[in-house]
Amino acid sequence: MKTIVSIVLVLLFRLGVDGDGLSYDFYEKSCPQVEDIVKAGLQNTFLKDPAAPAALLRLMFHDCQVQGCDASILVDPSEENLQMEMHSSKNFGIIKRELISVVKSMVEAQCPQQVSCADILILVAREAVAMTGGPWIEVPLGRKDSSATPSYELADAMLPSPTTGVDEMLEIFSKKGMTLEESVAILGAHTLGISHCSSLLNRLYNPSGDKTGVMEPSFAAFLRLNCPAGSLTSNLSFVLNDPTAFVFDNQYYINALGGKGVLKIDAEMVLDPGTARVMERFSGDQDGFFQAFSSAFVKLSISGVLTGNQGAIRKKCNAIN
Ligand code: HEM
Ligand SMILES: *[C@@H]1O[C@H](CO)[C@@H](O)[C@H](O)[C@H]1NC(C)=O
Repeated sequence: MKTIVSIVLVLLFRLGVDGDGLSYDFYEKSCPQVEDIVKAGLQNTFLKDPAAPAALLRLMFHDCQVQGCDASILVDPSEENLQMEMHSSKNFGIIKRELISVVKSMVEAQCPQQVSCADILILVAREAVAMTGGPWIEVPLGRKDSSATPSYELADAMLPSPTTGVDEMLEIFSKKGMTLEESVAILGAHTLGISHCSSLLNRLYNPSGDKTGVMEPSFAAFLRLNCPAGSLTSNLSFVLNDPTAFVFDNQYYINALGGKGVLKIDAEMVLDPGTARVMERFSGDQDGFFQAFSSAFVKLSISGVLTGNQGAIRKKCNAIN
């Protein structure tokens, strides 16, 4: 009986809505070279612009978190639609959307009207991780682009904020089918990039607000020095997310456990025994982190996507056809 139940569960999982219609050889006939075009297109960009990989990885998360990975975040506000996803304050700090359009035009030159912007964004994020030293993640393809754009209200409701804590974080990622281990692993994305001071002010200066107790005192002093209270430029000034902010490694966990987590979520994961246990393992086992990150990345990338006859393949990533 037990075996039958588990076979049924396995079948349900394999035929589940998530990832249905996606496959690892989706462009085998229509654009077999797409993964190479994306990779070649990015190599130069990443050399010239070391901030790009982090920005593009976060861009992928913010696209996928709002009605699935459908490139909706790439659509520019138009005269008809001013209440766009990008106008949500939760998308503060999102940059480099235009790079996806650049890669798209390279793909269009060789495979016109075949590859969705949603897939290109996933492939770009995959390269951002690989080219900074992280794992090379095999991703299923076949997503379609949204034909309509969500409102900024949906983005407000779905995206986390600088004050998001552990419980909300785990809820977000369990909805994507992630385990506790995978949820802690996907936050390892904070091994790359920066946080603006405006994302830290509540942590640094509001004593009743976020838990600052775990902050290592000299690190707290460093953050306060770099992000002074009442500054008019908190939306412009920033700190690195970890000391190796251009390298995808497990330093994020080592730092957070040492009281040097930058964002509230980074510090709070250390206080929660469940997440802390996983962080401790990843801090001493980079391969284990890479494996869990890879499976979490795939789950994030397939959750609630448009496939088959749904949606469209956009001609340009920044506009609905
Ligand atoms: C609930 C979970 C999460 C919370 C609360 C959170 C919060 C934040 C915040 C507040 C920032 C700073 C933004 C700024 O000030 O410019 C940030 C940056 C970043 N986040 Fe997250 N994040 C979460 C999950 C993720 C996930 C799942 C990914 C990717 C898979 C990710 C990737 C990044 C990256 C790469 C940056 C740096 C961006 C850059 O340098 O341009 N985050 N995050
Ligand atoms: C800083 O960014 C936030 C989020 O987008 C925005 O609400 C706020 O008005 C900005 N502050 C300044 C001074 O530009």
